[in-house]
Amino acid sequence: MRYGHFDDEQREYVIERPDTPLPWINYLGCEEHFGIISNTGGGYSFNRDARLRRLTRYRYNSAPLDTGGRCLYLRDDALEPGPAPLMWSPSWQPMRRELDHYECRHGMGYTLIRSRLKGIEANIRYFVPLGDSLEIWEVTIANRRSRAADLSLFAAVEFCLWDALDDATNFQRNLSVGEVEVADGVIYHKSEYRERRNHFAYFACSAEVAGFDTQREAFLGPYRGWESPAGVQAGLLTNSIAHGWQPIGAQHTRLQLKPDEAKTVVFLLGYHENPTDDKFETAGSQILNKRSVTPIIARYRQPQEVEAAFLALRHYWDELLGKLSVTTPDPHTNRMVNIWNVYQVMTTFNLSRSASYFESGVGRGMGFRDSNQDLLGFVHLAPERARQRILDLAATQLPGGGAYHQYQPLTKLGNNDIGSGFNDDPLWLVLAAAAHLKETGDWSLLEDRVAYDNQPGTEEPLYAHLQRSMRYTLDRLGPHGLPLIGRADWNDCLNLNCFSETPGQSFQTTTNKDGKVAESVFIAGLFVLAAQEMAGIARHQGEVDAFSEAANKMEEAIWVAGWDGEWFRRAYDDFGNLVGSKECQEGQIFIEPQGVCIMAGLGVEDGLAQQALDAVADRLATAHGIVLHQPAYSRYYLHLGEISSYPPGYKENAGIFCHTNPWIMIAETRIGRGDRAYDYYLRINPSAREGLSEVHRCEPYVYAQMIAGRDAPAHGEAKNSWLTGTAAWNYVAITQWILGIRPTFEGLEVTPVMPSTWDGFEAERYYRGVRYLVQVERTGPGNEVQLEVDGHPIEGTVVTLPPAGAQEVRVIAKVGPG
Ligand code: BGC
Ligand code: NOJ
Repeated sequence: MRYGHFDDEQREYVIERPDTPLPWINYLGCEEHFGIISNTGGGYSFNRDARLRRLTRYRYNSAPLDTGGRCLYLRDDALEPGPAPLMWSPSWQPMRRELDHYECRHGMGYTLIRSRLKGIEANIRYFVPLGDSLEIWEVTIANRRSRAADLSLFAAVEFCLWDALDDATNFQRNLSVGEVEVADGVIYHKSEYRERRNHFAYFACSAEVAGFDTQREAFLGPYRGWESPAGVQAGLLTNSIAHGWQPIGAQHTRLQLKPDEAKTVVFLLGYHENPTDDKFETAGSQILNKRSVTPIIARYRQPQEVEAAFLALRHYWDELLGKLSVTTPDPHTNRMVNIWNVYQVMTTFNLSRSASYFESGVGRGMGFRDSNQDLLGFVHLAPERARQRILDLAATQLPGGGAYHQYQPLTKLGNNDIGSGFNDDPLWLVLAAAAHLKETGDWSLLEDRVAYDNQPGTEEPLYAHLQRSMRYTLDRLGPHGLPLIGRADWNDCLNLNCFSETPGQSFQTTTNKDGKVAESVFIAGLFVLAAQEMAGIARHQGEVDAFSEAANKMEEAIWVAGWDGEWFRRAYDDFGNLVGSKECQEGQIFIEPQGVCIMAGLGVEDGLAQQALDAVADRLATAHGIVLHQPAYSRYYLHLGEISSYPPGYKENAGIFCHTNPWIMIAETRIGRGDRAYDYYLRINPSAREGLSEVHRCEPYVYAQMIAGRDAPAHGEAKNSWLTGTAAWNYVAITQWILGIRPTFEGLEVTPVMPSTWDGFEAERYYRGVRYLVQVERTGPGNEVQLEVDGHPIEGTVVTLPPAGAQEVRVIAKVGPG
């Protein structure tokens, strides 16, 4: 069953009813200012850091799930006042009064909600303009009745006192610190501005204001919630000024509309910073200095400026999405590659795993391994931003080569609570840097000087950081010559050095074993993969490759100690026993080492990769995607950690952890099995699952981190949508390996391993400033590629760089029997 449909032309998903199985969300903002918005206007907004600069409150895990947020109310003032005036929320929530018509369109960085009730139409456009720190809600109300309408429009937000965690916990203080100012139709939220903050929020209205409230209880009335504010019912606000308690911004404006007349009101929810030494209107006063914010508010109060900003946002996305577009025989592929997958990649780049409807915005900042992987799908979109991210990440690397597992976006400093010791982390930096070099050909990246642990004076070229990343692994080899796992590798829940018997202890940071025994086959495979990138870099630099010998040894160690006879093993635990082997009772085969080892080329030549992938197909693949391992752990194993804490079929305990599925797709292409690769691709492709929305339940336009595995009662149900490495890796798998358009150090490679049923496809790719027009034609079964570049056949599959000044390269790829 579906709850909406794709509008590919507009690049929107159109939700046709408000009561989706879960809130289906979108993100406003593409740079520094963000909002999360649900299909009924729920969610919150923040500047840069969802924990430390939260503008509005949001209560996670509430009932209903999506409560509060961007509240809009309409009231029909012409009807008899009485106890029950006609009032409703044009975005359905929070009032949830049934509407005659409802539609929500999530687009690239904006959301439109349209509705109608009793002849009154509402058309709301929400977005964050490029270059400014505010959210615009442009509300157009039209009267489709045959008589005049007398309406009140209310808009309300509840301010958060900046640090979202403190805001939700430290009530003894916070209920006394709230402060606001109101001037010229603008409500300013300035809690803590009197002391150490020099930033404030504002909620402005473009129309004449009939009244306002800034104290929550004054607006809602005692013992009432957002679904029935007393102020809306009365049609009159009290102009309350908040002192402590819960500061809000509620604006009221009246609309008199003739038949068929429409009026637009703009609400602005913004963030602004003042210089520390010029915070106040006059020195010594406590009044906000509004000199620099006033022009911004004045500008966006004008509908034509709003329209111009919206067009600029559309244009920005036209450009970004134009970097790679494909026309294949399959609409799900086209839609995801050309629109939604790229969009999600941008979101994960911006927010890592910090703020979604499953990530509370307070827990996790930018993950080291996460952000490096997100980059793999992002780098072609905005290479300069990607470069800065690589440098920011590298600056949280420690002198020993390890890395903080996370850093806070606002400060860019490593998070001490989590620390380091996730032994795969540093290797991902190598993959990210290599991806940047392959995309841009700008080798100066390697010379950028970056500090360790952000300590001034410790700067070294990025290249040295990469070398330390590699040595970090080699400095930590275990009894079988495989890398020690540390706190965890990619699988955060395989905690082989944390024997936790105490509820509430962190599986990731409680480390009570000395860590000298437990080894990871996954990190071994990742090391080989990273060593191949380092070899490519060394070759280009004209240097001796320092790591290929170590990589050869690592491969040997994998074959000796990491190969189980039919597939790659997963790990050795702290007792030196196997994990992911047929010797085990549960957890006999894991997906991750099959993916990473084969991506690194292990077993590709001699048929062992095929054997491992056949085992994946037999034992791990389901109709909803490939599960993480089998059999699922049926009970808690002290020596395995969080993985066995989950009930079977969920999350890391044999869920379909979508991040890993593209590794198998890529591995399948490595052995030439395009049909298999593509079949796996479609199983988790959100658009291809749209018709199963009542089972899948999450948004059909973005990937979710997990789909419940076959051991779970809710097999096929997705969770944790949006912020997942699944976005970048699927994008890489489909574009670079199945469609086979892949940046290399030497140029753009074109080597599709596509489904046998496809006759071919076309692609347009901007690469190093040149437009590549690629036409792929199948000439028969097989994956042998013969390239013709600008009409001339060439050797090999890499299109060498065109001469300087070239604008366009035409590539024809004939794919078929060798
Ligand atoms: C989750 C993992 C996640 C980890 C982060 C665990 O509870 O299952 O997916 O990476 O927390 O700390
Ligand atoms: C989510 C985490 O963000 C990521 O770092 C980890 O690799 C996966 N979970 C798997 O545990």
